[in-house]
Amino acid sequence: MLVLGIESSCDETGAAIVHADGTVLADVVQGQVATHAPYGGVVPELASRDHLTNVDYVVRAALEKANVKLSDLHGIAATRCPGLVGGLLVGLQVAKGLAFGTGLPFVGVDHLVGHLLAAFLQRGKDEMRPAFPFVALLASGGHTALYRVDGPLVANIHELGATRDDAAGEAFDKVAKLLGLGYPGGPLLDRLAKEGDPKRCAFHGAKLAGYEFSFSGLKSNVARWREDQGETLAPQLLRDACAGFQASVVKALTEKLFAAVDAERVSHVVLGGGVAANSALRARTREMAENRSIHAHLPELANCTDNAAMIAYAGAQRLLAGERDDLGIRAESKTALPRRTRKGGGKRA
Ligand code: KG4
Ligand code: ZN
Repeated sequence: MLVLGIESSCDETGAAIVHADGTVLADVVQGQVATHAPYGGVVPELASRDHLTNVDYVVRAALEKANVKLSDLHGIAATRCPGLVGGLLVGLQVAKGLAFGTGLPFVGVDHLVGHLLAAFLQRGKDEMRPAFPFVALLASGGHTALYRVDGPLVANIHELGATRDDAAGEAFDKVAKLLGLGYPGGPLLDRLAKEGDPKRCAFHGAKLAGYEFSFSGLKSNVARWREDQGETLAPQLLRDACAGFQASVVKALTEKLFAAVDAERVSHVVLGGGVAANSALRARTREMAENRSIHAHLPELANCTDNAAMIAYAGAQRLLAGERDDLGIRAESKTALPRRTRKGGGKRA
């Protein structure tokens, strides 16, 4: 079963052709960094316009690269939620148009489910697939949560806890910005942290009970420290600050991830989302999994950050389960996965 997936929820326009077994035939991503860099963050209106400009190109390029025609496909999937609605509408409407024109079945996909299943993608190397049930940490620019995943559908995925304020990637980007690094800051901060000493600049954040995270206090502590340093930061001190902040985030994420792994008694642990590209998070996850003799699935970079291959794969699983969506479905800014943690507030009943 071959599925075309389209992604347009944030600042990457993507199209991919993926087999239902996870084999990626083509995955084309057109980023928008140059559009948003002058503003230091994603500008929704500009993102929608870029998606509109680029979506035709990415779909054609994916079909060409995979060397398939629309008539070779078995279904069409597009990200339906969560994300910036203006962007979602672009990809969703193109997918609906293609489904209408070809008569192929159509499914909308929850972007978070895409991230959670990205570890199943096979891009040439024979990667070991995760086995259900697994515990996953999804950490991106917009989301940070822990999940128990019993299968590939929304009904099989249970949030264990999430951040109450900033997402981990958002914290990386904001701290990078206040330390004077470029945009997007996560990868730059990661690179500098490699040459820093986390002990020389230890930062702490709020410690919450259970599986909940908080990163805004940690970010404020770095901001206050930066203010105290005067105008210029010595290069080594900057690296130490990056290492100290990163170590604090990684500690919070991995301690809770493995508390969940232990409580849920699973033997597979999965990382997903852009922050899963972080070298320290990957190293610590690998180490803690080895200590427990369980399997850690650390998807390669192209699978961690936003892409359409994960959307096509998640769509293929819905199609295999016999699920179909009406062409009338709407784009939604919020995830379809039930949430336990309320941002900024207490637990839901
Ligand atoms: O999943 P993603 O591509 O988009 C969202 O759905 O948000 O994640 C992007 C986020 C950004 O905040 C970016 O700074 C962060 O992932 N990121 C990293 C690294 N690479 C990307 N954060 C820390 N270390 C990295 N190496
Ligand atoms: Zn994402």
